[in-house]
Amino acid sequence: MKGIILAGGAGTRLFPLTEVASKQLMPVYDKPMIYYPLSTLMLLGINEILIISTPDDTPKYESLLGDGSKLGLSLEYTVQNKPNGIAEAFILGKNFIKNEPIALILGDNIFYGHKYLHNIQIQLDNFSGALIFGYKVNDPERYGVVEFDNNFNVISIEEKPKHPKSDYVIPGLYIYDNQVIDISNNLTPSSRGELEITDVNKEYLNKKSLKIELLGRGIAWLDTGTHKSLLEAGAFIETIESRQGLKIGCIEEVALSKNFISKSAFKELINSYPKNDYSEYLRKLIS
Ligand code: DAU
Repeated sequence: MKGIILAGGAGTRLFPLTEVASKQLMPVYDKPMIYYPLSTLMLLGINEILIISTPDDTPKYESLLGDGSKLGLSLEYTVQNKPNGIAEAFILGKNFIKNEPIALILGDNIFYGHKYLHNIQIQLDNFSGALIFGYKVNDPERYGVVEFDNNFNVISIEEKPKHPKSDYVIPGLYIYDNQVIDISNNLTPSSRGELEITDVNKEYLNKKSLKIELLGRGIAWLDTGTHKSLLEAGAFIETIESRQGLKIGCIEEVALSKNFISKSAFKELINSYPKNDYSEYLRKLIS
């Protein structure tokens, strides 16, 4: 399976006065925001990844991560000229996706928890249909909201409803079979002018091929789309990392643990890093 990180779009919502500032290149505590969604895809075993971002930011991502070979990844880049909606990722990424299923993660989403990806990973072989997730939050009206019947079958999905029908929302990690390209090509923009990921999910729901998995309370899902949530995410990462002495979203560590790179390639990589807490952590991992 291949992966896409959609890391463009709405940065200006955080920085109305400085459009040059890109939130996903900003650190969330001790590493750039994009390391978190990137490490999630890597933990799913995905090493062919397309990063889609704005005309300004795409070259910055490219200079940060290059072709990914140092991490045992194959990274490609595509520009999204305007934030035309999350589902545009599948139209822009058509030549990258080819005939394969695809996992899409939003560049401002952070997932953390014990073995939370285990259940997902075993569903990825011979994948068909759509797999999305449900997570209980306090402020469902900010998200795509999912309504269930008593047996947790999905009844409806609504994007940012004024009156949410449940507290369960859909985090920014979506897994689709290859039909997603055609489905996205046939979407019409919503009233806010976007090709909505919620409309993609509704289409799979209509076809009865939408699976939803609830992420339990032991899993943290954070997004960094507002000033407050960005600060909270940084504080959360700092708290857990300081307490445990283990890093969250450390792409080099994940590359080694998933055998994307050998121990000697890992050593070579960290020798090229400047001396700081981050490289010290990596050094300790193999000493
Ligand atoms: O975070 C999960 C939520 O993400 C879902 O529950 C919603 O159903 C989904 O619509 C989306 O809602 P948001 O309002 O949070 O989306 P936002 O416009 O903030 O975009 C999310 C990320 O995707 C952000 O990092 C910017 C990027 N993006 C977004 C759009 C619309 C792009 O790169 N291009 C785009 O065209």
